[in-house]
Amino acid sequence: MLTIKNVTCEYRCQVLGTDTRTPYFSWQIESDKKQTKQRSYQFKVALDPACKQVVWDTGVITSDQSQHLLYQGEPLRSCTRYYYQVRIEDTYGRLSEWSEVDWWETAFLETPLPEAKWIAPKDQCEKSKVFTLQKKVKITKKIDSARAYITALGLYELRINGLKVGDQLLTPGWTSYHHRLQYQTYDISTLLRVGENVITIYLAEGWYKGMGFEEPYEYGQDLAALLEMHITFEQGSEEIIKTDATWKEGLGPFKTATIYNGEIYDARIHEEESIWKDIQCLEEPKINLVAQVNEPVRVTQRLKPVAILQTPKGETVLDMGQNMVGRIKMTVSAAKGTEIFLSYAEVLDKEGNFYRKNLREAKQHAVYITQGQKNETYAPTFTFYGFRYVKVEGFPKDQLGVESFTGEVIHSDMKPTGTLETDNPLVNQLYQNVIWGQRGNFVDIPTDCPQRNERLGWTGDAQVFIETALYNYEGALFFKKWLTDLKLEQSKDGSVPFVIPNILPEKTFGSGWSDAATVIPWALYQMYGDKKLLENQYHSMKAWVEKVRSLATNGSLWEAKIQFGDWLSLDGDPNLPLGATPIPIIATAYHARSTKILAKAAKVLGYEEEAQSYNDLAQQIVADFQAEFVTPNGNIIGGTQTSYILPLAFDLLTADMAKKAASELHRMIVANDYHLTTGFLGTPHLCSVLSEHGYHETAMRLLLQEEYPSWLYQVKQGATTIWERWNSLNPDGTFNDSGMTSFNHYAYGSIAQWLYSTLAGISYDEKEPGFKKAIIAPKIWDLGIHQVKSTYETLYGQISSEWCLNKDEVTVKVQIPVNTEATVKLPSFATNVTLDHQPVTKKVFCLGSGEYKLNFLTGNIFQHKFTDANVVGELKYFPEAKSLLMSQLTSFVNGQMPPHIAYEMIKGLTFKECKVSPEIGLTPQEIDELLIKINQLC
Ligand code: BGC
Repeated sequence: MLTIKNVTCEYRCQVLGTDTRTPYFSWQIESDKKQTKQRSYQFKVALDPACKQVVWDTGVITSDQSQHLLYQGEPLRSCTRYYYQVRIEDTYGRLSEWSEVDWWETAFLETPLPEAKWIAPKDQCEKSKVFTLQKKVKITKKIDSARAYITALGLYELRINGLKVGDQLLTPGWTSYHHRLQYQTYDISTLLRVGENVITIYLAEGWYKGMGFEEPYEYGQDLAALLEMHITFEQGSEEIIKTDATWKEGLGPFKTATIYNGEIYDARIHEEESIWKDIQCLEEPKINLVAQVNEPVRVTQRLKPVAILQTPKGETVLDMGQNMVGRIKMTVSAAKGTEIFLSYAEVLDKEGNFYRKNLREAKQHAVYITQGQKNETYAPTFTFYGFRYVKVEGFPKDQLGVESFTGEVIHSDMKPTGTLETDNPLVNQLYQNVIWGQRGNFVDIPTDCPQRNERLGWTGDAQVFIETALYNYEGALFFKKWLTDLKLEQSKDGSVPFVIPNILPEKTFGSGWSDAATVIPWALYQMYGDKKLLENQYHSMKAWVEKVRSLATNGSLWEAKIQFGDWLSLDGDPNLPLGATPIPIIATAYHARSTKILAKAAKVLGYEEEAQSYNDLAQQIVADFQAEFVTPNGNIIGGTQTSYILPLAFDLLTADMAKKAASELHRMIVANDYHLTTGFLGTPHLCSVLSEHGYHETAMRLLLQEEYPSWLYQVKQGATTIWERWNSLNPDGTFNDSGMTSFNHYAYGSIAQWLYSTLAGISYDEKEPGFKKAIIAPKIWDLGIHQVKSTYETLYGQISSEWCLNKDEVTVKVQIPVNTEATVKLPSFATNVTLDHQPVTKKVFCLGSGEYKLNFLTGNIFQHKFTDANVVGELKYFPEAKSLLMSQLTSFVNGQMPPHIAYEMIKGLTFKECKVSPEIGLTPQEIDELLIKINQLC
């Protein structure tokens, strides 16, 4: 069996309305034999479903390329459907059938919507108003097919004869409206009818006006719409219906709507009764129109409330059981003019009352005024809400049941690609919280949060979360769109704003945030191997590195003063969000990281000279970093966890320095009772650097930590998404009241990258990106988790890693997609290894496609053995041994300190260091004897 599936054009099947002239094609292969690779392929593109009117036939090409095959056929035509299929031969000499024919359709390859005029309501003084534009058109002939091409300044909804066109929400999406605006394409063949048709466009402010937490931002004063409907009749003739001066503006049921405040809808208002006024045609705005690139925002899931609560204050509140992003759809039968008022919130306070202070100025309301019909349904259109709880007012009491309300989850409808499950329910909940965090914050752009008056494309948040994001969902198109805007928003001098699209008043940039320009394209390249994407961003990457170089001493040390730093870390002034890690360390470390990435990108793209010179620069930065920030004893100035994490993560230290830095980091964490103090920049790499540098157990303990601050603290407090701050909710049940407290911020969810790549062990191999070659190297440890199963849908097909630890026996199962291979690495302590039940002597295997089972024994590796090198505080998890030690601390500082204080003072020391600290009151021999007893108790 050799079959082909998922043949995609630009990452998707059956895409309507693209404007690329050279699309990419990719396919997946299924085989019943192990170690299958593609030997050759033949790809065809045609104008007909039978693939006879061929516009491109590659002929048989000997190659194993099954990803990103660039179209090189006849020039494509606008507004045309193309069909394609592929067949392959494998390395066993088997020829597949042709794949099922798939298609994509072009939109405008030349000027988009050339016939239509921009139309706008004449009087736009009323704030937040939703406008209703309409035209009636007569169709006299039978329709064969029809398309609508439409966009707006603001958000639009298009209706034909009262029916919403398409299932996309919040169109045309948010791009940098100063530069470009997306239009969408819809198949409206079955919506138009012979006779009179009513075409309606509703227009709301959306992202065009009113966004921003300081000053509401306006891209322009006038909302406007642009539409062309191309109709082909059965006899072959064509007609274009378009926006022009003949359209009218009237009254519609949508009254007001904004992203932050919500929507007011008056169902009593019937358009038929409206008085229709003239509209104005606008001068063509100077914005490039481009076809939509990314997956549309859609309703992807529906949830029922888990409870309807009466709060102590007497409020009626729906509990959705999940902090979600989207809206409530309700069904109601009530007397005409009944006003139903919904307000949305993320949390209830300590007393169980509805709490909305953390939304700041965002009102998050929905008002629905009934028309007096039976079973009226309503869900807001031009807004979205971040919420778990919904306060309901004005709703008929007899209908207040869960059946009247449905939570509609909305986000960019990307393909889910990752799964992960362990035998630890808390860790599973954490993982689910990460997924929910991503869903709620990937609403056309990657936002910081979905609920308060912000919801902006903060670059730092996206940068730290990118790898996790790309494991969870296929993010190529989502980020291709956003990175194009990043590039367009980048200043001429290379600086990259804090938010994309940029609506913040000042010209801003900073390390960790602006480095999204380099880190994100590179992460995408690792996950998808898409060179076109990397090429598109290369100049932006370079401009950012050059910008920092121009600011840095010697081009390398960036002694920046005011930046966000390790945002929201716990090691600084608790009243400030900045953290204690010195900014120059962060800024220089990131400069090194971005420069290294740039050098690698240059190499991939064949810019050899630049690759060389950026490599040289990277080396210079590394050398200067070491000289400036690493003391002769190998300590790192700053002394915070993040000061150690970043140079380790970005490979800025010599092997000796790295060894010392990792042990210091471990010591700090142990001395802090296995608690992290890291913020946005340190946290994503915390567990990875520990696991990579010999402290996997410490990483596991951080993951499994349930006390504040930790990931599982949030989970234990009932979190269903990831919080903005470790202390969004304090241990005493009060909220952080700093004015910046969200319960749905994804940055700390970046731990999932480590869950996939280290705990389950699935990662890419930089040498053959896009998972052409993968690494499967699960880290197995006898602590809190004994079973893990993770899958990741690569572009080639599914890769999976599953392990189970039973006493001292481990079973690992892996799956490797066809046309790829993987290096499978077992832990160095593995003995008695078998591969598919055959004994083998190796622990590292290069395996082709297929499923494999490996078994091995762990020996006594998990048996704890304390030596001189261990840090005293590691005894935290061995209570008997800890009591024993405490019982011997009676002579600490001549007995002047009670043992529990003495323990606190020495818990950051190694036993070796204790031996040379006479204040402890124990001789080296006594400590050796103590160690022997400790080991008997562990
Ligand atoms: C946002 C963050 C962002 C930060 C930068 C906040 O208001 O919510 O997530 O990265 O500002 O300072």
